[in-house]
Amino acid sequence: MVYVVAIAGSPSHPSRTYGILEYATQLLQQQDIQTEIISVRDLPAEDLVFGLYDSPRLKPVQVSIEKADALIIATPIYKAAYTGVLKAFLDLLPQKALSGKLILPLATGGTLAHLLAIDYALKPVLSELGARNFLGSVYAIDKQIQKLEDGSFQLDVEIQERLKQSLDKLVEITHRFQPIKPELTRVS
Ligand SMILES: Cc1cc2nc3c(=O)[nH]c(=O)nc-3n(C[C@H](O)[C@H](O)[C@H](O)COP(=O)(O)O)c2cc1C
Repeated sequence: MVYVVAIAGSPSHPSRTYGILEYATQLLQQQDIQTEIISVRDLPAEDLVFGLYDSPRLKPVQVSIEKADALIIATPIYKAAYTGVLKAFLDLLPQKALSGKLILPLATGGTLAHLLAIDYALKPVLSELGARNFLGSVYAIDKQIQKLEDGSFQLDVEIQERLKQSLDKLVEITHRFQPIKPELTRVS
């Protein structure tokens, strides 16, 4: 079964970035894809701040990433780049943790002005971690992600469509590269 891990890089709650990932993972689940969201704000702050890369508390997320066929790596734009807490987390991953993984980069920003931050800031870090296979990025601005009274988020049609295109591509590619399971032969 295809397994997709989504990393939410916002320190805030509620978070538009997290809201998009919830929407994206629901779409993937409808296609029988197993998903997990890792929110960096839920990780032990001390491990991140002190760079404790061998902390046993980080082991479960490192294992999830190791098992993933694909990752959605999502960040709000902070000061024209990714968030510091996302970088603190990525710094603690093993050297080539993203090698062989399909990556969908995603960012939310207050304005379109920092659309290219994914290319000039986020992707070089992911490449350093071994990522080579990138899907087309998704960038949404705040007014495309409306916060509802119950704390959930409503995406506008354009961003829903853009996200769906990238996720369809993700599903197609991950299925194409799934190892073919040998036929089971009944032995009586
Ligand atoms: C500290 C801080 C810095 C920000 N810097 C930028 C920026 O440089 N460019 C931009 O377009 N938006 C910037 N924003 C706006 C956020 O990227 C935007 O509101 C985003 O959707 C927040 O995502 P979240 O709700 O998942 O945290 C900044 C917001 C904060 C809190």
